[in-house]
Amino acid sequence: MIKIQIDTKQSSKYIISKHIYGHFAEHLGRCIYDGIWVGPDSKIPNINGIRKDVVEALKNIKIPNLRWPGGCFADRYHWKDGIGPRNLRPKTVNAHWGNIVETNYFGTHEFMETCKLLDCEPYISGNVGSGTVKEMSEWIEYMTFDGESTMANLRRQNGRDKPWKIKYWGIGNENWMCGGNMTANYYTDLLLRYSAYCNDFSGNKLYKVACGPVGEVTIDWVLNWVETILKKTKNRLFFKPIIEGISLHYYTRAGAKPATQMSTRRWYQAMKSALYIETPILEIKNLMDNYDPIKRIGLIIDEWGTWWGVEKGINPAFLYQQNTLADALIAAIHLDIFNRHCDRVHMANIAQTVNVLQSMILTQGDQMLLTPTYHIFNMYKHHQDNKLLPLNIISNDFIHEKFKLPAINGSASIDKENNICLSLTNLNPEENYEIECDFLESRINKNEINATILTSESLNAHNSFESPENVRPENYPIDKFKISNNRLSFEIPSKSVLFITLTQLE
Ligand code: AHR
Repeated sequence: MIKIQIDTKQSSKYIISKHIYGHFAEHLGRCIYDGIWVGPDSKIPNINGIRKDVVEALKNIKIPNLRWPGGCFADRYHWKDGIGPRNLRPKTVNAHWGNIVETNYFGTHEFMETCKLLDCEPYISGNVGSGTVKEMSEWIEYMTFDGESTMANLRRQNGRDKPWKIKYWGIGNENWMCGGNMTANYYTDLLLRYSAYCNDFSGNKLYKVACGPVGEVTIDWVLNWVETILKKTKNRLFFKPIIEGISLHYYTRAGAKPATQMSTRRWYQAMKSALYIETPILEIKNLMDNYDPIKRIGLIIDEWGTWWGVEKGINPAFLYQQNTLADALIAAIHLDIFNRHCDRVHMANIAQTVNVLQSMILTQGDQMLLTPTYHIFNMYKHHQDNKLLPLNIISNDFIHEKFKLPAINGSASIDKENNICLSLTNLNPEENYEIECDFLESRINKNEINATILTSESLNAHNSFESPENVRPENYPIDKFKISNNRLSFEIPSKSVLFITLTQLE
């Protein structure tokens, strides 16, 4: 029996920002071209070139923001290549992702229209690695300045009269590697300079995100990168803050085989790798608390997800992978961890939205399928903007060869109508567990429970174009719950994710 306690009377003061449920779309493989953009002349149903089916599916999971144009692509992207009449735009080379010709058909206006259709916030990644301060500051002026200026008039000439509102702005991406092979000191000096020219025009207010580390390397390196930024940007608030957020990237890895080759051993390896993200989060939070005890600066996990080998016969630079039950559990593990650390984690972006890495959606011509990861985002959307509830899981560990893992991971929240949301993952691929959840002082009623479960018989279960509904959430029958003394008992099957909502009695 695994015991859980939820103290609804002690709800924390922290809100699970909807932006934790954010996404990322890069000019990489078939993410933008094919996945989002098919062009206005395509036979695939589209709105001004943007796929209708993909827009509808993403709206359904309440996508709160979309990061673009990269990734490593961002530090090679020159935004002026992507404006004006599409037939006149230059053809450039996407040298980081397979030397593919970039038509620049999808540029600033197309991205902003995508965000409008999705009803989500844009998150732009600016070019520090191969760009200039002038180029970045002009991009901001082009997008957000309301008055008469060369940049604002150029925007008007390209069909957009009113400026857009842009909040999230990244100053570089992975500048320690693909974004220019910089040291922490060198990058931070550039950050100070670039930030000075990231202007707030016409009532727009930028939330500037510094390039942070990747969490898969040594903690010393991770902390040194973050501390260099915190130290050098501290006490420079007299004019305006240098940054509002620092990013962190983290990928779950377990060998180079494709996703569907999921052995039991690899399952354990992958779950362990996924759970490890909490280590850099905790370490960075400690450090940030020293420099920024009022928690002004957010930790922005703007790339996370699984990184398996590409599917057979696919260009390795395209990072196209299948998405299995393991991906679903890994998504749930991450989202629960982010929820629990929402005091500092203000935003996160899964990599990547369509056809690349841990996608929500895979496309093939005019067909589209929803992955197991998509279904987790659909179940978990009920946590968005809720208040975090303290959750105590007294979980068994389970052991396999050298792996020792906690059986259950989860998080809880309460919405504005006082409904409690509880998400739980059973990581053990072989054992079901009995759960007893104590709601302490809140009174609960069996008739007011709704539950959804995502699981499957096999570890590598996935959706294909031949069988697109193979893995999908099911209702978890209400008669499987028992209530006594304000305690809720139920079973959570092996390798499953369970999402429960309960209405409290007055
Ligand atoms: O998401 C794929 C790549 O992973 C991104 O372009 C880069 O930032 C990271 O290394």
